[in-house]
Amino acid sequence: MNNKRVVVFRKEHFNAAHRLNNPLWTIEENKKIFGRCNNEHYHGHNYELIVQVTGEIDPETGYVIDMKILSNLIEIEILNRFDHKNLNLDTVEFKNINPTAENIAVVIYDLLRNKLNASLELKIRLYETERNFVEYPA
Ligand code: NI
Repeated sequence: MNNKRVVVFRKEHFNAAHRLNNPLWTIEENKKIFGRCNNEHYHGHNYELIVQVTGEIDPETGYVIDMKILSNLIEIEILNRFDHKNLNLDTVEFKNINPTAENIAVVIYDLLRNKLNASLELKIRLYETERNFVEYPA
């Protein structure tokens, strides 16, 4: 019998530019709320992404998930899509939503969730800076 649940993590990295702006607000309101992140010519972040997968150890492989499969999935679904991109201008995902760390984490979760076996739990942690990071789901 083997039903031990284990949490595995894969750490990845991408660079991307963004601008936080609410088009329904005035220039002054946007400056007040978003500060330097509202800079109209965009700015970049070095995002650290930690993908957390929880599940039972497969008795045949000894793995929760094959890390090669997980890292390929992150590369194809996330890094190829967002690395060295302007999130506002170059991606369809953030055409109409503000690319905050919160929203980026939700988008990443949804992209990976679609491709992962339903028996695996998924959690995303995204560092926008060393000191500011978010997790989804809560
Ligand atoms: Ni920013």
